[in-house]
Amino acid sequence: MADGVIASAPGKLMLFGEHAVVYDYPCIVTAVDQRMMVEVKLRKDKRLVIRTNQPGMSRYERQVDELGQGIIPKQAKFSEMLVSNFYSKFKVENGLEIRTDCQFSSKFGFGSSAAVTAALAMGLYELFSIKASKPELFDLCYKTVLDVQGVGSGFDVASAIWGGTIYYIKGGKKIEAINCGDYPLVVGYTGIKADTPTLIKQVAKLKKRNSEKVSKIFTEIKKITEKARTALEERDDKELGGLMSLNQLLLDELGVSSNRLDELISASCKNGAWGAKLSGAGGGDCMIALAGEEKKKKVENGIRMKQGEVLKVKHCAEGVRLEKRK
Ligand code: PMV
Repeated sequence: MADGVIASAPGKLMLFGEHAVVYDYPCIVTAVDQRMMVEVKLRKDKRLVIRTNQPGMSRYERQVDELGQGIIPKQAKFSEMLVSNFYSKFKVENGLEIRTDCQFSSKFGFGSSAAVTAALAMGLYELFSIKASKPELFDLCYKTVLDVQGVGSGFDVASAIWGGTIYYIKGGKKIEAINCGDYPLVVGYTGIKADTPTLIKQVAKLKKRNSEKVSKIFTEIKKITEKARTALEERDDKELGGLMSLNQLLLDELGVSSNRLDELISASCKNGAWGAKLSGAGGGDCMIALAGEEKKKKVENGIRMKQGEVLKVKHCAEGVRLEKRK
């Protein structure tokens, strides 16, 4: 057994298929090169101690035999539930010290919860010298996400584990790497933090009221996602951009876009992007645009002119990995 390990997992950006993926339609997601770092160490006592660099909680502590019970601060929920699920699965009861350090702000919607869950899972398997395949890591992490938030397709967990750009169907029914290399993505942050479970519930309500309309929208989104997969493989960036804008129209019909997102998306298109859309649940967080090298700067300036923050991230990053073993 190791004394301590450090593992890391990437953040993510949804490229196509958000919301529809919650209802078993496919999506495409890419991992970004900003990572969540997690250090795990054994303790001599029977306490779980979590230290984070997140706002609002620097240190949290509790007894190992009380894991998952009572009120848990939101910054510790995913870590504590993951430890609880891991400990029940492998009948472990050691004290544990966890330190998380995120290279990106949790406000961007890059999936810090999924990334911390994936990195911590790998850290625990390594710490206790238990071998785990990617699907095994996924099952433990996805169960944890559902235990904490009750809803979600698990696309963010798959992205944190597999990395790259993947084609994904809910619950890990399909996780397929898309061989696409580097495509010219621009990322703009609206300045507004979105609440994913609220937006998922909003779409569920709409689906209940108007099931036929929403099913039609989802079927169209599926067609776009399938075409986008081919466009990515063939590196037809113009086609890909056009598909982004079509996907955006449908997300708008679902009612999940917002004025801020619309402003940044339209600024991108006016400044020469091939297409643009929101990324993730909507309501805020980030938008993405696809623009040729000669237009990229113009598109970025267009986003800034509308008070958007351009985030310099590389996509197709590596999935969860072991950084250090002591
Ligand atoms: O806001 P994000 O980046 O967590 O993305 C949510 C994407 C949804 O499809 C709306 C939900 C999900 O779990 O797939």
